[in-house]
Amino acid sequence: MNRILINFAHPARTRSRINALLRNAVEDLENVTINDLYANYPDFLIDVKREQNLCEDHDVIIFQHPFYWFSTPAIIKEWLDLVLEYDWAYGPKGNALEGKIFLQAITAGGDDCTYQKGGCNVFTFRELTSPYCAMANLCNMNWLPPFAVLGIHQGLSEEEVNFHAEEYRRTVIALRDGTLDIEKAKHGQYLNIDLKSIIRRA
Ligand SMILES: Cc1cc2nc3c(=O)[nH]c(=O)nc-3n(C[C@H](O)[C@H](O)[C@H](O)COP(=O)(O)O)c2cc1C
Repeated sequence: MNRILINFAHPARTRSRINALLRNAVEDLENVTINDLYANYPDFLIDVKREQNLCEDHDVIIFQHPFYWFSTPAIIKEWLDLVLEYDWAYGPKGNALEGKIFLQAITAGGDDCTYQKGGCNVFTFRELTSPYCAMANLCNMNWLPPFAVLGIHQGLSEEEVNFHAEEYRRTVIALRDGTLDIEKAKHGQYLNIDLKSIIRRA
């Protein structure tokens, strides 16, 4: 079984609807650690050694967060700047993250039509998340396209939100149990566009 680390970043968790439900859907799973960055570091004083140890102890690293200004909430940038040290994450001796799977689970107000070339957000979601792909590549991680819940500003129904939460749980279980076809998944626009085509029966 793979060990999954979910670095959860929501600056106003009590006002979260979607991320709270996604998190609830995976919190009880065996071999899944939820690391709530804003709860642990309300003053942004990140414990680098603790975070590095957590990464070393897990095989899959997920950043779960809302999309803020076409990027992540600020604490994730701080985390990357501090935790991904030279000769630990990258550089001649930096192989701590090598071979680990990297995934972002992102919720966003805009829908898929707004994230197209020529759409009102100008760039695709994949283009906007490309710095994380570049980071994973530099650290020799196995990057996966984002698990994306889009169109929240259009008002997702209870049923739709529950569907996404269930899909998130399926994804995390498949990553944990090694039943997700990583090579095939890499080519999709979003990881959750068609889960049944990338998840094998256990
Ligand atoms: C400060 C801020 C910035 C945001 N920036 C974006 C954005 O760039 N693109 C987008 O699609 N949605 C944006 N949103 C909408 C959030 O992504 C959306 O409210 C969130 O994913 C909902 O999840 P939650 O219920 O867990 O809070 C933004 C919201 C806030 C508060």
